[in-house]
Amino acid sequence: MSAEARAINFGAGPSALPESVLEETAKGLLNFAGTGIGIAEISHRSKEFTAFVRNLESLIREQLDVPPTHHILFTQGGGSGQFSAVVLNMLARHRLLRPELAEEDRVMDYVVTGSWSKKAAEEARRLGGGRVNVVADGRKHSPDGKSFNNIPPAEAFTFSEDPALIYYCENETVDGVEFAHAPGPTAFPFERLPKTGLIPLVADYSSSFMSRPIPRLADHAIIYAGAQKNIGPAGLTILIVRQDCVVDVDAAAKLGAVPTPITMSYKTLVDSGSLYNTPSVLAIYMTGLVIERMKSLGGVPYFEQVNKNKAEKVYAVLKEGEAKGKLRGKVQEGSGSWMNIVFDVLGEGEEAKFLSGAEARALKGLKGHRSVGGIRVSLYNAVSEQQTDKLVDYIREFIGQ
Ligand SMILES: Cc1ncc(COP(=O)(O)O)c(C=O)c1O
Repeated sequence: MSAEARAINFGAGPSALPESVLEETAKGLLNFAGTGIGIAEISHRSKEFTAFVRNLESLIREQLDVPPTHHILFTQGGGSGQFSAVVLNMLARHRLLRPELAEEDRVMDYVVTGSWSKKAAEEARRLGGGRVNVVADGRKHSPDGKSFNNIPPAEAFTFSEDPALIYYCENETVDGVEFAHAPGPTAFPFERLPKTGLIPLVADYSSSFMSRPIPRLADHAIIYAGAQKNIGPAGLTILIVRQDCVVDVDAAAKLGAVPTPITMSYKTLVDSGSLYNTPSVLAIYMTGLVIERMKSLGGVPYFEQVNKNKAEKVYAVLKEGEAKGKLRGKVQEGSGSWMNIVFDVLGEGEEAKFLSGAEARALKGLKGHRSVGGIRVSLYNAVSEQQTDKLVDYIREFIGQ
């Protein structure tokens, strides 16, 4: 297929990648860094590849302003792998700090604002080793009592005194709910966190990583993301881990903590420079190319502005559609995501009509997640403002009928 025949991909992940990166990847598949060996064929221990990994790490550090207190690590297993890994590593850390606590007194705080944080909390319950406390649940603040359509008010957040971890998902990809980055009623209530010691704050940034700066990054214990939304293909998981969360998981297990598989231990990743076992070489390569391109365009601040413009345009046309009684946004004002905008098309058969009209214009990936239905527009970094304009024009045409 020629580049001209490519569709505009609004899919939620795996998702659009810049064409220049795909072309560069094709070259790297034949000959990586002048070695005469393709990137999918070269040893992950070769000096060329290890240099590439170290450079990727420093590009991320630079663009997100990650302080020296935090490691940048690469692993596999996706966001779901981290649902387990954060629990195991943070329970191990807590066990070493508070070995005397009984299981029911070892608490893991979860903020549940959508399908992904709900799943993360379920995994924590499944693994055991501590009790899950739901700090706030978005469903309780929705009109029907069962929809994830809002960020709960700050007063609803009641954190435990000394939890093993405090978990939140910054952007809920399925439900389109996101914490605001500017201070205000839908920002993460950092001011309500426990005041003592280093806060074990864990954030799932899977669907907004490197789309804009991370508020209060240095106050987080762990931030993680799968690459397959904004910065690469599936297969690579990126972690930002504060030094105090890199613990001897085996020493903790001897004290009774749930054992941590060796590849999930953050200490293993730190000690091996993220190369304990064979990493996802190709995914790392493509992510590196994306991030180099990001830097050449102006880095995270540039993408923040473009992403803001894109989201504002889609929310504006959604408002027009609501005024005409054709569309209905699913998320409360102030809680809407920049990355995944979700709405219903009103009227019998209208959604199918909307989707087939979009398809005819090569606007793809718009169907909402199978669990919630409706329409979802994902506007990750590789979707340009011009491409977004095409979708906005189509929506305007559709609601004008
Ligand atoms: C916010 C969020 N967290 C976690 C996941 C799960 O990630 P993975 O499919 O990489 O396991 C996803 C996947 O879409 C996600 O959007």
